[in-house]
Amino acid sequence: MHDVNRQWRLVSRPAAMPEPGNWQLVEGPVPDPGEGQVVARACWLSVDPYMRGRISAGPSYARPVEPGEVMQGGGVGVVVKSRHPAFAPGDVVESMGWGWQDFATLDPRATRKVDPALGPMRHALGILGMPGLTAYFAFLETGAPRPGDTVVVSSAAGAVGQVVGQLASIMGCRAVAVAGGAEKLAWCREIGYAVGVDYKAGDLRGALAAATPEGIDVYFDNTAGPIFDAVMERINLRARIVQCGTIDTYNRPGQPDTGLRHHRHMLVKRARWQGFLYTDVAHRAEEGLARLSALLREGRLRYREDVSEGIEAMPAAFLRLLSGANLGKQLVRVSPEPA
Ligand SMILES: NC(=O)c1ccc[n+]([C@@H]2O[C@H](COP(=O)([O-])OP(=O)(O)OC[C@H]3O[C@@H](n4cnc5c(N)ncnc54)[C@H](OP(=O)(O)O)[C@@H]3O)[C@@H](O)[C@H]2O)c1
Repeated sequence: MHDVNRQWRLVSRPAAMPEPGNWQLVEGPVPDPGEGQVVARACWLSVDPYMRGRISAGPSYARPVEPGEVMQGGGVGVVVKSRHPAFAPGDVVESMGWGWQDFATLDPRATRKVDPALGPMRHALGILGMPGLTAYFAFLETGAPRPGDTVVVSSAAGAVGQVVGQLASIMGCRAVAVAGGAEKLAWCREIGYAVGVDYKAGDLRGALAAATPEGIDVYFDNTAGPIFDAVMERINLRARIVQCGTIDTYNRPGQPDTGLRHHRHMLVKRARWQGFLYTDVAHRAEEGLARLSALLREGRLRYREDVSEGIEAMPAAFLRLLSGANLGKQLVRVSPEPA
């Protein structure tokens, strides 16, 4: 355990793909909690695609990180000091307000205790946390799948996508994975996707047509861009399109949203295209966690994680995610879990 607090602070905003030099690792004292606060030591930190938006200045659904500030992000770890009656040293806690640092001063209103009976603590950042709950609510409620539907998922092997694909198979749908490369698609097949499309292999439209002979009823979109366009040409009557992410756009901010348009497909197919944001359903986490953890216990859900070692690896782990080098939920192991 370190007696200093190492923090990654944002130094500059990237114009396109971020570089490690956009952040700087600095050392400071371990904080003391104020009245009503909790200080916890990170065991695992998360990197997530939404962080790309947080280092841009433009308007979004959350306040951006300013240069000089600690980089925002989620973490899970152990309470070391508490001045709040509901938390005691030794409690395992998760918060999306952790930041890229060893020790976080946490707001108890944005911190939850992690039940060790549900699974390893790192799952609180993945399948039993924001990505898993996003998959659960966005697919089941916004996507409104029906047995027999053809469900296409982009970024299908990722933290969110791998859960959507498995939920689709459990629901009796035919799940079609779109991901970059043979290794990711092999994993998708292993967990129940019926077929996969490698969007980096060329002829995306042809491959998608071969994979979806009966058209597409639900599209769970994590990417926008060319995959979205290819899918739209194949949607069925009353298709449902879940806009969960737009990662293809993240590293080319400011580029105009012009090009292929889908209005006619939407009208002819009377389709529904709806955005989803986890914060809208976060208050229902218990409900989703109960179902996801039961499926995990029953062996009906599997979850792959991709672990980088040490807090020094935070920027590199984030870049792995943006470049597609991660296979599964990208995590960083920061310090040992308590025995
Ligand atoms: N709306 C919400 O509340 C919410 C919550 C969580 C996540 N999300 C969104 O869901 C998406 C997936 O997040 P995640 O945490 O599960 O990440 P992830 O899928 O584990 O990792 C990101 C993946 O995106 C793919 N990718 C990167 N650039 C791409 C591009 N230009 N075109 C197509 N694919 C690209 C890469 O996979 P390939 O090798 O397959 O390219 C990469 O592995 C993101 O867009 C994220 O912003 C939204």
